[in-house]
Amino acid sequence: PQNKGVNAHSKDKQLEEFRMDNTGKKLTTNQGVKVSEDEHSLKAGSRGPTLMEDFHFREKMTHFDHERIPERVVHARGFGAHGYFQVYEPMTEYTRAKFLQDPSVKTPVFVRFSTVAGSRGSADSVRDARGFATKFYTEEGNYDLVGNNIPVFFIQDAIKFPDLVHSFKPEPHNEMPQASTAHDTFWDFAANNTETAHMIMWTMSDRAIPRSFRMMEGFGVHTFRFVNELGKARFVKFHWKPVLGTHSLVFDEAQKLAGKDPDFHRRDLWESIEMGDYPEFELGVQMIEEEDEFSFDFDILDATKLWPEEMVPVKIIGKMTLNRNQDNVFAETEQVAFHPGHVVPGIDFSNDPLLQGRLFSYTDTQLIRLGGPNFHELPINRPVCPFHNNQYDGYHRMTINKGPVAYHKNSMQNNDPSPATAEEGGYVHYQEKVEGRKVRQRSDSFKDHYSQAKMFWNSMSEVEKQHMIEAFRFEVGKVQNKDVKQQVVDMFSNVDSFLAEQIARGVGAKVPEAVNESKVTLSSPALSQMNTAKSP
Ligand code: HEM
Repeated sequence: PQNKGVNAHSKDKQLEEFRMDNTGKKLTTNQGVKVSEDEHSLKAGSRGPTLMEDFHFREKMTHFDHERIPERVVHARGFGAHGYFQVYEPMTEYTRAKFLQDPSVKTPVFVRFSTVAGSRGSADSVRDARGFATKFYTEEGNYDLVGNNIPVFFIQDAIKFPDLVHSFKPEPHNEMPQASTAHDTFWDFAANNTETAHMIMWTMSDRAIPRSFRMMEGFGVHTFRFVNELGKARFVKFHWKPVLGTHSLVFDEAQKLAGKDPDFHRRDLWESIEMGDYPEFELGVQMIEEEDEFSFDFDILDATKLWPEEMVPVKIIGKMTLNRNQDNVFAETEQVAFHPGHVVPGIDFSNDPLLQGRLFSYTDTQLIRLGGPNFHELPINRPVCPFHNNQYDGYHRMTINKGPVAYHKNSMQNNDPSPATAEEGGYVHYQEKVEGRKVRQRSDSFKDHYSQAKMFWNSMSEVEKQHMIEAFRFEVGKVQNKDVKQQVVDMFSNVDSFLAEQIARGVGAKVPEAVNESKVTLSSPALSQMNTAKSP
């Protein structure tokens, strides 16, 4: 059963049923009883004790006492907006996904941008990766593209994610520092898990201090699959390209803004939409044929590697426009639940071991964050197409299912929804052949930790290199433990000897032996000044 009527306004129309406008209304309790007075609790005498029977006071205070929910374990600080997506031309050759077929269809979307490390009240402009999560409310169900503004990730296997996050979150004994990679545990993790090298290079670059959410790229990071109507699959990586171009702050600006306007990025997004200056992002895909899986000098399942665009060009396939601010940050930005496993027919997974672990983590965390198994019924999370199954009950159930039957198969009553065939739009997993021994191992093809980190460094302009050196010096300079500092310097000597030397000189570590002779230099006057000032 498909809803042919999905268009850019479908989600807005659905949300309308849940919106509440109190203008001109009488104050009531949640039971609908009109309240006569809202400033004084009920007392025995005007100077006497408050009475337990004051049901309005009790209800009002109890609700207030329970207003907060846990913030997200990562990406706690975010901000969302509504919009729509349109494909430029039918993608039929590559995928059967309905929302990628008809250029006249506007699929509603909700996007949440976020920082990763800081708490919900932290500052927007800190040095960090940014989350870029998009929920497409398609006529075949919700598709979530849960990406970041950096095309690679710190680790290769999901089992290390809790360790990574524990290392960059505030240290448990004193909860410092808030929202920063400038501390011992993060750099200790980095130096002892050297697959982090590539993403750290991006994080120390200007990409980690974006000028605006409207001016960042987005990346699905993992390798996914497109599958077409004939069942033919291709590996795919997703990209968002901001129509305004990619722009960054300079670090000094970013640091000042964090104090002067911690809401800098959300304000910028909110105001541009209020002014009608709608943020736009083009969707791009890189595709690799199944038979070319092993044609590269990196493993295409390794999330610490990107696919160089000169080898695998990005094909621009559509555009997203964000044209409406949310009505209520809690109901929308906070309650939205993204999941990389929310896919529609025509989009499938790969065996990337980071992606595979994410497929477990998101629902698991949302079960506690959003209080039970029914958060798909929250207005922001509801698909715009019909949804029916035999999942019943649980905390905060909103749907009133009818009839005695809640199981499949049954012959008693025909309200047991029946599975759909592929032709009817049923999701059929791509039949990838899998075989192997059960092992706790990483393939040797994941062992190169430095080539792409080097490639990134070599692609930087002189100014960009200078900014990176300054960032390393600031962040690593905050590390107290001398061994950790030295390990970081030694680690980055595998990326570039000049870079390692510059970090060493800025943080009071030993210049690694092998690079003492380095003749490489940057001509920038600012950098040479910095060197004279800070050389040991
Ligand atoms: C949020 C886990 C890697 C992008 C989250 C959340 C968890 C999580 C538990 C909080 C979700 C919530 O409370 O609703 C993981 C695990 C990872 C991983 C276990 C690796 C194994 C990644 C990667 C990306 C990413 C590689 C980027 C491609 C995001 C984004 C959010 C998020 C954008 C915020 C979603 C929102 O705005 O609500 N992640 N993550 N994560 N993650 Fe991941």
